[in-house]
Amino acid sequence: MKNFQTISEVRQCVELWRREGRRIAFVPTMGNLHEGHLTLVREAKRFAEKVIVSIFVNPTQFGINEDFANYPRTEIDDCLKLVNEGCDAVFLPCVQTLYPLNSMTSIHVSGVSEHFCGASRSGHFSGVATVVCKLFNIVKPHYALFGLKDFQQFVVIQTLVRDLNLPIDIIGVPTVRERDGLAMSSRNGYLSAAERKIAPQLYGTLQVAHDNIINTSMSLALVQEQAITTLTQYGFVVDYFSIARRADLMLASKNDHERIILVAAKLGNTRLIDNLWIDK
Ligand code: PAJ
Repeated sequence: MKNFQTISEVRQCVELWRREGRRIAFVPTMGNLHEGHLTLVREAKRFAEKVIVSIFVNPTQFGINEDFANYPRTEIDDCLKLVNEGCDAVFLPCVQTLYPLNSMTSIHVSGVSEHFCGASRSGHFSGVATVVCKLFNIVKPHYALFGLKDFQQFVVIQTLVRDLNLPIDIIGVPTVRERDGLAMSSRNGYLSAAERKIAPQLYGTLQVAHDNIINTSMSLALVQEQAITTLTQYGFVVDYFSIARRADLMLASKNDHERIILVAAKLGNTRLIDNLWIDK
């Protein structure tokens, strides 16, 4: 596996791949790779002959009181996992490489960035959109793969690519879960043993809400209220539990199709997010 730290190395490599007529699939990550990330890499291999992964803990998407400094950095382990998956190249830039001191441009995707995680994490999606756009311009992939676990991020990236006419196909990959239902996340490592036992209730509560919406005449407001009460009883501090339209992330009504239930909640100091599609 090729290992790059500089932009020019990546550019040289991908230009050669393109001259050889290879399709390139790109998986951006912040490292601390788990089965969720590795599933994206496996999926990427189905789309393209060459797969490149980036590992970069992006400072601009963390708020001042968030976990940028403590975010788990496990690059050596990560690279071993990527070699095992048959990944072709990894890009590990340092902060100065992607954000030289004279950087002045950032990207804001309005509308879909504003609600949910955007409301409680001010500037977060601008940081994501900016770094992903920069990485796209460096790697110039044909395909880029994103997890549907971070559904709002997925919609922000789709919107960015559409609005800036980037010639990249964005592929969404279903959420990979632990056996007890907890969505895999690098942040699960922050949970204490006691919190880890409670954490799967986030998905459990999504499933109950889903069943109530599909099988009962309960109003969406009541479904939402019950879910928040349940989560609070388990010890979560709920940021939002909402039912939205998947296409534009506007709040859904009973008559909408293609909906999604989105949740973010804190367990102790750990912020967890999850979602469940409603296909009805
Ligand atoms: P990170 O949290 O490392 O996630 C990298 C990719 O893995 C994202 O597309 C995310 O949705 C996906 N992913 C994480 N957990 C997953 C799971 N359990 N199942 C399926 N996919 C999962 O998301 C980011 O990094 C950053 O915001 C990034 C896009 C790299 C920009 O900095």
